[in-house]
Amino acid sequence: MTSGTITIKRADLKDLDLIVAVNNLAWGSGLESTKEDFIERFKVFPEGEIGAYLNDKLVGIISSLIIQSDSPEDVPSSWAEVSDNGRIRNSHNPNGNSLVCFSVGVGLEARGMNLGRSLVNAQADLARRLGLKKVYAYSRPSSYMYFKNKFYANLSDEGFLVQIPIEKYLTLGKDGQPRKTGESLFDLAIGMHDSNGAHIARIIPRGRLEDKDSYGYNVLLEYPLE
Ligand SMILES: CC(C)(COP(=O)(O)OP(=O)(O)OC[C@H]1O[C@@H](n2cnc3c(N)ncnc32)[C@H](O)[C@@H]1OP(=O)(O)O)[C@@H](O)C(=O)NCCC(=O)NCCS
Repeated sequence: MTSGTITIKRADLKDLDLIVAVNNLAWGSGLESTKEDFIERFKVFPEGEIGAYLNDKLVGIISSLIIQSDSPEDVPSSWAEVSDNGRIRNSHNPNGNSLVCFSVGVGLEARGMNLGRSLVNAQADLARRLGLKKVYAYSRPSSYMYFKNKFYANLSDEGFLVQIPIEKYLTLGKDGQPRKTGESLFDLAIGMHDSNGAHIARIIPRGRLEDKDSYGYNVLLEYPLE
């Protein structure tokens, strides 16, 4: 594993090229964000752009915005809607009461070093500073298709989704069996949030159809904010 000095702090638009590169390598083909997307995010809600730095080089980036929400049910039901297609201009409400982390990505060379969790925790700190009531992660079951190929390669996608529906998948541990007490979930993204103290508030079918790895599903998690 890589070692070095880790810093979590407000991201800087001067690192735009690196921000886009780190984000897009983490998210992969079909789920990229553009320079213009990030420029808009920095314009609309600069506090919500937080970076993870390893030896002063950006290796992770998280984006958030504010909405008005009294329950998970009133969070928009697609990534495009919640994030205004990644540009946040029409979905960010500066007078709202809830922070939504809608994108986090960490470079492969820095995975498993707690950076994802630290980035989310920095967003929770921001929410407290702003006096907000809730912190959501609008996330994705990023390893769902990988799980299928590992354990159910003989099934069609349709057959797999019937045999292991998303609700069941999100209870399984690293060996593909129901997880034991204290064990992490199989899924990398939802597992990161789960092991960081979030609970799954809503499963959103067809939340982002272009997300093939997740079979189009999104998952809304809520963090306790005491
Ligand atoms: C999800 C993501 C941000 C996690 O970043 P990360 O910095 O590796 O996560 P952390 O180190 O904070 O969390 C570690 C957890 O992730 C898992 N993990 C991910 N990659 C790992 C690796 N290479 N080695 C070890 N653990 C890893 C572990 O299960 C660990 O949980 P555990 O300690 O409870 O077992 C990263 O995998 C990523 O960028 N994925 C692609 C984009 C994406 O799907 N984003 C999430 C949607 S909002």
